[in-house]
Amino acid sequence: MRFLVTESLIAGFLLVSSTEAFNAQLGVTSLSPQTTTTSLQATKTDELAIQKAKLFKLLGTKPSTDNVLEDPVTKEPIEISASGALLGGDSRSRVPYTVKSASNSFKGSSDSFIDLLEPATEGENTSSSSSSSPLNDFLQRASPYVPVPLRGPLASLTDGEYIPMRDLFTSPAVSFAYERGWRQGFAQAGFPGPDIEAEMAMDYFAPVAAVAPGGFSKSVIVDMSCATGLFTRRFASTDRYGRVLGCDYSESMLTEARRRIKEQRSLAKLKTTKLDLVRLDVGQIPMRNESIDCLHAGAAMHCWPDLDSAFTEIYRVLKPGGRYFGTTFLSSYFATLSSMDGQGSNVPSQQAFQYFESVDSLEALVAKGGFDRSKIQIEVLGNACAVIRAEK
Ligand SMILES: *[C@@H]1O[C@H](CO)[C@@H](O)[C@H](O)[C@H]1NC(C)=O
Ligand SMILES: *[C@@H]1O[C@H](CO)[C@@H](O)[C@H](O)[C@H]1NC(C)=O
Repeated sequence: MRFLVTESLIAGFLLVSSTEAFNAQLGVTSLSPQTTTTSLQATKTDELAIQKAKLFKLLGTKPSTDNVLEDPVTKEPIEISASGALLGGDSRSRVPYTVKSASNSFKGSSDSFIDLLEPATEGENTSSSSSSSPLNDFLQRASPYVPVPLRGPLASLTDGEYIPMRDLFTSPAVSFAYERGWRQGFAQAGFPGPDIEAEMAMDYFAPVAAVAPGGFSKSVIVDMSCATGLFTRRFASTDRYGRVLGCDYSESMLTEARRRIKEQRSLAKLKTTKLDLVRLDVGQIPMRNESIDCLHAGAAMHCWPDLDSAFTEIYRVLKPGGRYFGTTFLSSYFATLSSMDGQGSNVPSQQAFQYFESVDSLEALVAKGGFDRSKIQIEVLGNACAVIRAEK
């Protein structure tokens, strides 16, 4: 990756230098437009411009400052460039990104995600990062909410056994756990299911994601804790947003989200929507102040380790008038589960999850982040699914 970047920089430099040398020879500088240009010069200059454009196409995109993402540590702007040809924003092959702020470099590529959790350390190679199994991640997040009859079979899938990533996702049981399981498992708590939840969120976002007449949407939507991209894909496949950012802490979840994005044909041809996957910490969101129109977090808040930081950060990155839509479990659901178990001890790793006792406590939490209480609405679906809508 480094080689390609260097090569691209050198080639670009040589080209610029030779253009200048060429102009200097003819007594032309780019700063004197009044200079009479002969048709020969014009042709040569055009030719050079064409060559230069061709070269850039070959070598990748020019670095440009990202207008949303920033360095999570220093808060400096970051530049992202692709060190290979990217046609139509989609590439079947792996194209490494160069992601850097003035102080730090980050990892990223077209076939995975942009890692803004922390700067890449010097000399680190791309395959060195440890990834836990996506199934384990899923179980950690979801198993307390999965109805008892499903939990046994799910847990037996992990059982300390190492399952290769590829096999894992071709297994029907795991697909079930991931996406269909979501619908069926969470339905018991009152969750409306991903299709309806996505519609509810997009209805709420509509006023801030309006598309200018005849124009393309410029609005930016974040799917926070996107996991396998259940909602990210739904948001991206509408043409309501200019940019969709699927964000998660887990590398394995993002890898699976990417795989599913690639699999969905309609997403390979997005013309007006830019879709990125970003690894981040919701307690330290690597995004600029007031850069986001809509932020969705589906069944995610109960997994956030520091809720106060998360809501302070969400409030910070939303534009004035920007909207948050999130769903989560009320703790009453656990009582139901425990009674179904007949033994409360079966609810796994309770301390790993946040418990929301009541609508009031949820409202207090969101308000603490900066939201005005008059702009927070919380609805309860079924027996324990809280739907939070909040406007900055
Ligand atoms: C890449 O990472 C592996 C595992 O951490 C390490 O053993 C290896 O030395 C690294 N290679 C380079 C070139 O840094
Ligand atoms: C961004 O917002 C935070 C919190 O409101 C503030 O402390 C910081 O100065 C802001 N940064 C910029 C660049 O405006």
